[in-house]
Amino acid sequence: MALSSPVSSCAHRRYNISSSSSRIRIRCSNERQALFNRISPVYDNLNDLLSLGQHRIWKRMAVSWTEAKKGDNVLDLCCGSGDIAFLLSEKVGLHGKVTGYDFSKDQLLVAASRQHLSLKACYNNIVWIEGDALDMPFPDTSFDAIAVGYGLRNLVDRPKAMNEIFRVLKPGSKVSILDFNKSASPFTTSIQEWAIDNVVVPVASNYGLAKEYKYLKSSIREFLTGRELEKLALETGFSHAKHYEIGGGLMGNLVATR
Ligand SMILES: C[S@@+](CC[C@H](N)C(=O)[O-])C[C@H]1O[C@@H](n2cnc3c(N)ncnc32)[C@H](O)[C@@H]1O
Repeated sequence: MALSSPVSSCAHRRYNISSSSSRIRIRCSNERQALFNRISPVYDNLNDLLSLGQHRIWKRMAVSWTEAKKGDNVLDLCCGSGDIAFLLSEKVGLHGKVTGYDFSKDQLLVAASRQHLSLKACYNNIVWIEGDALDMPFPDTSFDAIAVGYGLRNLVDRPKAMNEIFRVLKPGSKVSILDFNKSASPFTTSIQEWAIDNVVVPVASNYGLAKEYKYLKSSIREFLTGRELEKLALETGFSHAKHYEIGGGLMGNLVATR
C-alpha cells in the first residue's frame, strides 16, 4: 500500500508514448521511480490484502473531504494505479475533469488499463500524466479540489510539495491528504509497528517485496504527526487545516483549505 522512496524532484521530460486511446501523457521519468514501477503489478492486490479492503473506505473518506462536485476540475496527486482518481471521476461526472498525476509510468499504465476495462462512461473524464509532484506542469489556481493518497509521506521535500499543491489549487478550494497516521499515542504506534513487522512485511515477502515494504515503518516514523501536518499547511498559506485520525488511529487525513 504505502512505501517510502528516496525521491526528490526531477526535470520534466516528454515521452512519445502518448496516445489518445490510452489518454496517458507521459512527461517525466527517472530511475528514482523504479521502486514504484517494480511494485505496480501487485500493488492493488496487496492493498486489498493488507488492509482487508479497508483502504477503499479510507479513500472514499479522503475524496469526500475534498468536497469535489459535478463539473469540477480535480487532481489526484501521486495517483498510483488510480483508485482515488476513479472515485473523483464519479464525483465530478461527465462534465468534470480528473487528472491522475504520478511519476511512475508503470503505475499509470495500470491505471489506464483499469480505466479501459471499466464500462463507466464518466471514467472518460480522466487523463493520466507522468511527472514530479515537486514540480507540477499545471498553471496556478488550476484545480477545484486535490486529493493525495499515501503520497506526501513519500516526498522528501514536503514543504515544497505543499507549496506546489497550494499554487495549483483555486482559492477557497480544498486538498485532502490521506496517509498513515504518525500517532502521538505510543499504544497506537506499537500496534501499527507490530502489524507492519508481523503482517505487512511477511505478506509482501510472498510477492518478493519484503524489502520494499520494510521501509514503511521508518517512513511513518519520519513522517509528520497530525499537529505537524496542520502546522505545515498553515505555514504554507492555507487558511484552515484539520487533521482527522481514521481507521482506529492507524490512518490520518489532513484537510486544508486554500
Ligand atoms: C504508495 S503509492 C499511493 C498510490 C495511490 N495514491 C493510492 O493511494 O493507492 C505512492 C505513489 O506516489 C508516487 N510518487 C512518489 N513520489 C512521487 C513524486 N515525487 N512525484 C510524483 N509521484 C510520486 C509513486 O509513484 C506512487 O505511485
